[in-house]
Formats: sequence, structure tokens, C-alpha cells
Amino acid sequence: MLNLEELTVYINGRFVPGNQATISVFDRGLLFGDAVFEGIREYSGRVFKLDEHVDRLYDSARIISLTIPLSKEEMKQAILETLRRNRLQDAHMRPIVTRGVGALGVGPGRDVNPTVIIFAHPWKPFLGDQGIALKTAAVRRTPPECIDSRVKHTGYLNNILAKLEADAAGANEALLLDVHGFVTEGPGENFLLIRGGAMVSPTTTNILNGITRRTVMELARQAGLRTEERNLTLGDVYTADEALVCGTGAEIVPVVRVDGRPIGSGEAGPVTRSLMTAFRQLVQQEGTPVY
Ligand SMILES: Cc1ncc(COP(=O)(O)O)c(C=O)c1O
Repeated sequence: MLNLEELTVYINGRFVPGNQATISVFDRGLLFGDAVFEGIREYSGRVFKLDEHVDRLYDSARIISLTIPLSKEEMKQAILETLRRNRLQDAHMRPIVTRGVGALGVGPGRDVNPTVIIFAHPWKPFLGDQGIALKTAAVRRTPPECIDSRVKHTGYLNNILAKLEADAAGANEALLLDVHGFVTEGPGENFLLIRGGAMVSPTTTNILNGITRRTVMELARQAGLRTEERNLTLGDVYTADEALVCGTGAEIVPVVRVDGRPIGSGEAGPVTRSLMTAFRQLVQQEGTPVY
């Protein structure tokens, strides 16, 4: 099992052993979830879509009025150096930027000092690669009226509750609806369906605009599918030919059941399987070299 204490972790410009990688108990990331983050993968010594992830991290920070105390280039170098210090070839990385220690009330005050943390560790796709069952969660995705869906922030509590619902129901993963009942995404993945030569995604107003999702949609277009974004109902899901979830942590996973109903044939579909193959090839071909 992975011993997290053996990792070398970046904290505010320093590389420290995992067992000394500590931040203040007064950090607003802990007190209020006042933080943004990214999940990034390295494949065979190359970081996949590094620029896109760093751009999204800075957009997330900008939307919540958090100034990251590093340039984008410095952030990229810090991420690459974290991989090098841990001698990793295939890894998952998590840069996190909190608003740091500020006022102890909800308002951060002016005197904040953001905390930048980066850790990296070997991590297999967390849902495996076999067909999975989803369960629609009772808890809904945080609507964009409350926080812009573009922000990848650490407030994942409703995603966690959705996941617990799925676990309790014996499903592999949850599917969250928006407050109007339209399909959004999984707790840590985007959801896509395939029907009649088209790949359909929920609109980006209500989902994280996933980098894997965009890659999968591009691969689908290259394979001759049309791609669309529109509001999806559970009826659309139940009548899909195929469905999948995708994300940096999960990669691409076929969805074979939703709420106990088989999707399509009830087995991983041919389009999904060929997209998985194309994705595996792509991640080995491109990316920012680490070494
Ligand atoms: C809620 C949520 N949706 C979607 C995704 C997939 O996004 P990406 O492909 O950029 O990792 C993630 C994971 O990062 C996520 O946490």
C-alpha cells in the first residue's frame, strides 16, 4: 500500500517529506473549503494536458478572487519538479491553492497569504475499466446560481454525499441531477451518452467543463460521431445506446446500468471501447515531458 508519508510534497515553495507536510489549522482551506484545486495525470513520464489544467486552476482562482502567488509557468515547473522529486513516471497530481490564513470569520479580510500545495502519487483509475452501475443521487449538484460550475473548488461535500448514496445502494458511482432534474455529472467525473451516431453531453452550465470530456468528444468526432451539448433527462439516459463517465482520475469507464436498468445491451458498448483504446494511445503520445 502507498505510504503517503514517503512522498515528497510541495508546500509554499519548499519540498518536504510527507510526514512533515503540514499547514496551519487556521488555514481557510480547512476552515471553510476556501480553496481551488486540480487533478492531473502523468503517463510514461509526460503530463497530459498540463497547460489546460493550469489554465483551469487559474480561472477557478480568479473567479473566487484568489490570487495565486506563482505565475502559471512557475506553477507548471513546481508540478514537474514534484514529479521528479518523487521519481514518478505514472502518477496523479493534485495542486491545491487555499486562501491561506486570514480572518477567522467567513470574510477573509485583506491579510491573506495563500497556501500552495502539490502532491503526486501513483494512482490507478479509481473506477476500474469494466462496465459500472450508476445510481441517481437524491442530493443535487450545486447549481451555477450558487457557484459558477467553472470553479473546481474543494467544496465537494454534496459530491461525497452522492457517492455515499451510491455506495449504500450497491452501485459503483453516483449520477447527480441539477435542481431542475436534468442530468449533470458524477461526483468526480463527467457523464456522456451515445445514441444514434451522436455523443451527447449535458451543457457546461451545470457541469465541470472536464478536460477528459473535451478530449473524449474530440476523439468521438475523429471517429465520425456528431457531438452535442443539451439538457439531458433521465429518460435520455435510460434510452441511450451507450453511456460512459470520464475524468482525469477515472479516465474512461463504460456505464452499463443506471438505477438498475441496463443501458443499451447492458454491456460495455463498441463505441466506448474504441474510445478507451484511442484515449490510451493518445495519452502515451502527447504531454509535457517531465524528465
Ligand atoms: C465533479 C467533476 N466533474 C468532472 C471531472 C472531470 O474533469 P477532468 O476531466 O478535467 O479531470 C472531475 C474531475 O476532475 C470532477 O471532480
